Amino acid sequence: MRIFALSDIHADFEPNARWLRNLSFHDYRADVLILAGDVTDSLPLLEWSLGLLARRFQQVLFVPGNHELWTLRDSPRTGSFEKFERIREIVRNSGASMETFRTDRLSIVPLHSWYDFSFGAPSNELLDLWMDFRACTWPQGYEAPEITRRFLALNETALEDAAHRPHADDHTLISFSHFLPRSDLVPQRGTLKLDLSPVLGCALLDQQLRQLRSTIHVYGHSHVNRRIEIDAVTYVNNAFGYPHESAIAAKRLVCLLEH
Ligand SMILES: [Fe+2]
Ligand SMILES: [Fe+2]
Repeated sequence: MRIFALSDIHADFEPNARWLRNLSFHDYRADVLILAGDVTDSLPLLEWSLGLLARRFQQVLFVPGNHELWTLRDSPRTGSFEKFERIREIVRNSGASMETFRTDRLSIVPLHSWYDFSFGAPSNELLDLWMDFRACTWPQGYEAPEITRRFLALNETALEDAAHRPHADDHTLISFSHFLPRSDLVPQRGTLKLDLSPVLGCALLDQQLRQLRSTIHVYGHSHVNRRIEIDAVTYVNNAFGYPHESAIAAKRLVCLLEH
């Protein structure tokens, strides 16, 4: 069994949907795919994408990204937390999973999250331009820190479970989230004028994955492919990204390990 990682497939773009359609029916039958969010904000397209992948892999493990929680194009427009619950059903119905995956020597744990501005305060320009601030619908009084707290609380069961489950020395724990768990994973800005770091992740996520004793953590959202070891954890970004992002995204599956 091989464990593959992918995020940010953004299936709304035809070249990305074509890549999904062209994935082999035979090559990955014994394998697990970690899919770290941002498939689409459209629920029918999410169902189509997850169903397609679930028919090609033995198991598809998913966490929603920010795009899944956009409600702007939904009719009727509901709240983003309500949409999250709808996504749970769609994931289940399409044969994928948002639960911890376990074998004797391996656990793969999805970690829900958002951004809480722990990587920096957002500029007025960012508050104006970042689509989530218009495209998501949160309850009255919910700002980024409250949203993040609510998503991180969903990980408590997995944390408690890991604390009470003695793992053998050869047990590997992989965690994954859509958002960045550390500010030092934020890509260099290059020519980009706008500082996106406030909306890229949250530091509490790193505390959670270290509590789990994770050794590999897969994240998405920044779209910049990367693999780096920091304090005994290997962080992997294998975002597929938008069609024009071929300089920062390899646009292929990455195998994390063979089990
Ligand atoms: Fe994305
Ligand atoms: Fe994202």
